[in-house]
Amino acid sequence: MIDFSTHYLGLKLNGPIVVSSTPLSESLDNIRRMEDAGASAVVLTSLFEEQLALESRALDEDLSRGTESFAESLDYLPAQSDYRMTHEVYLDHLRQAKAAVGIPILASLNGTTTGGWVRFAKDMELAGADAIELNTYALATDCSRTSTDVESQLFELVESVCKAVKIPVSVKLSQSFTSLPHLVCRLEEKGARGVALFNRFYQADFDIETLEVRPTLHFSTPSELLPRLHWAAILYGNLNIDMAITGGVHSAEDVLKSIMAGANMTMMASALHIHGIEHIARVLADMRYWLEKHEYTSLWETRGCLSRRSVPDTSPFDRGNYIKTLSSYSLRHTMAAF
Ligand SMILES: Cc1cc2nc3c(=O)[nH]c(=O)nc-3n(C[C@H](O)[C@H](O)[C@H](O)COP(=O)(O)O)c2cc1C
Repeated sequence: MIDFSTHYLGLKLNGPIVVSSTPLSESLDNIRRMEDAGASAVVLTSLFEEQLALESRALDEDLSRGTESFAESLDYLPAQSDYRMTHEVYLDHLRQAKAAVGIPILASLNGTTTGGWVRFAKDMELAGADAIELNTYALATDCSRTSTDVESQLFELVESVCKAVKIPVSVKLSQSFTSLPHLVCRLEEKGARGVALFNRFYQADFDIETLEVRPTLHFSTPSELLPRLHWAAILYGNLNIDMAITGGVHSAEDVLKSIMAGANMTMMASALHIHGIEHIARVLADMRYWLEKHEYTSLWETRGCLSRRSVPDTSPFDRGNYIKTLSSYSLRHTMAAF
């Protein structure tokens, strides 16, 4: 029998597949099915800074009705009704999820700046969250802001959330940082216990007929896994921080590659939307078959074996790979033409 156990943020996980933040976990029945299928933890959908700010503003409006003294600064944001759950409904759902299953439940807080909204991290802790995933999706659109400004804001936010709670905090990161290894070291200093690699970049699409720019959400494909494997393999062994891979994990092979790169566990969202929640059980069965065939007794034995530290030739992770890839392609291409 293969031992699938792993750990993340100091939590013991009975397997390498965690359900990533997705609306699927807004149903308690689905959360039970996730546990039954072999998910080792569930990350709930996010509460957004903007939503929490709107809720606070609504409260302020109630308190200051008639005085016209409340701020107008949130007017560009989606309306309060656009968010799926108020924070009270969210906390209630979190409590019920904790009562319904035995696996860890992670709450998700989604924002970019420090402020009063960070106190909701404490509410999540009090409602029973085993950990908090802090999603820091942000895009730099202001020419006057340097990369140092962007990173400083991130560090400040992570530090304030970590200080607000005793439960562990992981940071769901975007891929676009100039020096990811340095950034992750700094996040560890600020109190983060883990990083989730990476947020997907939801690019808006351009409609050339209507001249509109529209938000799009496509499910991922396994090809999105490659940059995540690459960075996990580079980070592994250099830091004490735990790593989760989210983005492009669909099959047993994807999970195995992620662990071999050095991740503690993997997360799935798109694959479950496409194939259903029971897909987790099929992936675990495929993994078990592969590990037995290759005479492993535990998944942990494979961890990091394809990391940059473990492979004899590190050039696939460095500039050497870039040069080799480009030159070998042009050579083959030229040969084929003759
Ligand atoms: C419909 C949908 C809703 C999502 N909502 C959230 C969210 O509220 N917060 C969050 O951090 N990530 C959210 N995600 C991102 C996923 O958690 C995950 O990181 C991303 O989809 C990449 O993983 P995948 O390739 O397994 O889909 C959402 C994804 C989907 C498909």
